[in-house]
Amino acid sequence: MQFFSIYDLLLSKVQRENKSLESMYSFFKARKIKKGQIDELQQTSFFPEDKSFRTALCDFLDMTELEINLAMGKVPALYRDSYFQNIKEIARLLSKREDNAATDFSPYYKNKYGQLYHGDCVEIMRGLPDACVDLVFADPPFNIGKTYDPGIDDSLTMSQYINWMYVWLDECVRLLKPGGRIYVYNLPKWCVYIASHLGESLTFWDWIAIDMKCNLPIQKRLYPSHYGLVSFVKGTKATTYNNQRIPLQVCRHCGGEIKDYGGYKNKMNPKGVNVSDVWTDIYPVRHKNSKNRKFNELSIKLLDRIISMSTNEGDVVFDPFGGSGTTYVVAQLLKRKWLGCELGDCENIKNRLLNHEKDSELLKKLQEETGCLFIEKTIGLRKKNGFWTCDDFSEREKNKNKMEDGQISLNFGS
Ligand SMILES: C[S@@+](CC[C@H](N)C(=O)[O-])C[C@H]1O[C@@H](n2cnc3c(N)ncnc32)[C@H](O)[C@@H]1O
Repeated sequence: MQFFSIYDLLLSKVQRENKSLESMYSFFKARKIKKGQIDELQQTSFFPEDKSFRTALCDFLDMTELEINLAMGKVPALYRDSYFQNIKEIARLLSKREDNAATDFSPYYKNKYGQLYHGDCVEIMRGLPDACVDLVFADPPFNIGKTYDPGIDDSLTMSQYINWMYVWLDECVRLLKPGGRIYVYNLPKWCVYIASHLGESLTFWDWIAIDMKCNLPIQKRLYPSHYGLVSFVKGTKATTYNNQRIPLQVCRHCGGEIKDYGGYKNKMNPKGVNVSDVWTDIYPVRHKNSKNRKFNELSIKLLDRIISMSTNEGDVVFDPFGGSGTTYVVAQLLKRKWLGCELGDCENIKNRLLNHEKDSELLKKLQEETGCLFIEKTIGLRKKNGFWTCDDFSEREKNKNKMEDGQISLNFGS
């Protein structure tokens, strides 16, 4: 595997040689390097500045700095010319990994829209043909030590987690049809790696920031306020892009707009504003009445927007991390086909798909609240508080026409 931190490299040597972590710390202690300095290497992908620390690392690993860099998938700038001059020799020295034979899985549940598989997503994807899906949406565990169903480890080392992501991301890329789109949802810290890896085989499309509500502050860092949703396209152009319009954001107390649209109000599309790459209107599913399971679950509003934007009816949507089945239920309510897998409990997903009345109601309500500049409730509030509504401008247009005909003149506030 590729290493993403020197700490993981140290750990792998300790494990390979059946040593204890204490013996590793003692080795460094004898060279005046504290445990804290070693532990700090867990989250970094580069060498420490301190020369004696670097020497000690090389000694412990019995590797040169160049070898350590190569183990971390990096060719230092000084060596790039000779690396490129020796590409043929390097390629000859590398031996190809045997492809794992695909296992044949039968679906845990299927209906006329889709198929759900119970098992590890990588194994299941290996059994699926190339270019068979139009959209991939993936919301993997974030490696933050959460408890999931047995068999799911959410406390991997940095290298284990990133390597694991690269394996399933590669499979997702293979499954995408040309012109298909992939969205991956994660913390910005991991999105950096996801985006750089996907960029090796796909075209970058969007990096969407999803406003995170009620998070805890982290010491000496900016208050974490968004999740990342990175999106790439297979080939150079997305086959489908259905523009999404949403209502203007207003204060829920007075109905006044939150952002200043200056003198352009009368030019605003009554069907709503175009969705930008900052999504502030997605709320977490927290209330026990709306939750379908005890673990994390995304809102159907998020999936509705992604699926509606990037697919048409009949297209195939794939999500390797089923969770509570949000992606599949939204896909089929929007008349898309879906494919999915889940390593943990699948019964939950099956039940949700069989009893989708609650989701269907919710989706209907959400759809009534899109495609307009203001929802009904907001229009009432705005009128009451003297704010403009679309009616004012259609009235104004009518009056302008009448004025041009030399009839009447009315004065509207701006
Ligand atoms: C963050 S949750 C997904 C939640 C989902 N988006 C929803 O809205 O309900 C991640 C899910 O991936 C599942 N999972 C973890 N590792 C997996 C693997 N290797 N293969 C398939 N599923 C896996 C976990 O059991 C968990 O349910």
